[in-house]
Amino acid sequence: MKQNRFDEIIDRRNSGCYKYDGLKMLYGKSELIPLWVADMDFAVSDKIISALSERLKHPVFGYNLRLDDFYEAIISWQERRFDWNVQQDWIIAVPGLVPAISLAVLSLTEPGERILIQTPVYRPFYDAVLDHKRKLLTSALVNTNGIYSIDWQDFEEKLKQAKLFIFCSPHNPVSRVWTKEELTKIGNLCAKYKVPVFSDEIHADIVYPGYKHLPLASLNDFSEICLTGVSPSKSFNIAGLATAVVIVSNLEIRNKFNELNTKLHLYLGNTFGIRALIAAYSESENWLDELLCYLNKNRIYITEFVQNELPGVKISPIEGTFLAWLDFRNWGLTEAKLQEIMVNKAGLALEPGTEFGKDGEGFMRLNFGCPKSILEIALKRLQVLAREYG
Ligand SMILES: Cc1ncc(COP(=O)(O)O)c(C=O)c1O
Repeated sequence: MKQNRFDEIIDRRNSGCYKYDGLKMLYGKSELIPLWVADMDFAVSDKIISALSERLKHPVFGYNLRLDDFYEAIISWQERRFDWNVQQDWIIAVPGLVPAISLAVLSLTEPGERILIQTPVYRPFYDAVLDHKRKLLTSALVNTNGIYSIDWQDFEEKLKQAKLFIFCSPHNPVSRVWTKEELTKIGNLCAKYKVPVFSDEIHADIVYPGYKHLPLASLNDFSEICLTGVSPSKSFNIAGLATAVVIVSNLEIRNKFNELNTKLHLYLGNTFGIRALIAAYSESENWLDELLCYLNKNRIYITEFVQNELPGVKISPIEGTFLAWLDFRNWGLTEAKLQEIMVNKAGLALEPGTEFGKDGEGFMRLNFGCPKSILEIALKRLQVLAREYG
């Protein structure tokens, strides 16, 4: 039987990669199974490799100009996958969505102004607010038996005070793919209180059967209040190529954002990232669809395993992303102890829940973007821990 390409185990050690080569620095040991930072252990599509190899044949790597094929690839992708019509002049190239969030904070708000996020959430959302001396407003998502939803009353109260809302859609770490109803409600409230939204949609391509990602800006006239961050870096596993875009239809918001991006010279871009983005969106759709089937099997496997074999542990339904959000609170351990047994007893490097804020205490995020055989070993090690602590 032909092996599935995603079953291949690729030795990433000593390739200068954060996920493996950063283990000693971050977890104190290198011989751990790394299931933390959000990149996958899969080889990229052959089309991306060919596009990069082709570019390598030209021996000069000077400053870049993005040509129409760059923009067309993004426009066509948004149209094909999400039914969203984007215009070329709405697209602003950035080196990544994390710097883009800071650009939005700096260009749309003043020091001391309030910015809203929904917690628990990806750590750089907090940093982008606090590092630039803005005030953090948090609206905690409500966890009902592992299922996360929005506390609308609290959200609206906080939104009234905010100058910007940073939204994670689909959501990292709780793996929610927001419904049309939820998105419409969010968009209506942001429009009502005139609060622009940075909608980080980096996980948009990784959504499982039964769920559908809708760009917030594609609904109603929400495009006017949105800055939408998109990137092939998660879905095509090219985060190291530092290439993303922000899509903004509102001219005033776009000019403000663009001015800072230009002043900081962040727009020039990476020769290989540009080529990889085009090869990803224009030629690697089949690869992505195969990846989604593979990830879906890992997702079902981990969900069933946690439910059946890990007493006391809860898993949130994984609607999108390759990240599982696990609730270990029933084990009654401090976060330090939980982390200690993960590393020293199980040999696993997971992302501690408090990385996503204080409401992540007692939780761990597990990245299942790896060959199933590795996931099996990791989960069996968790099962051994569960016998002692569960
Ligand atoms: C929600 C979210 N935004 C942004 C990023 C990283 O973006 P970039 O590498 O483009 O800066 C991640 C990576 O995990 C993420 O989960």
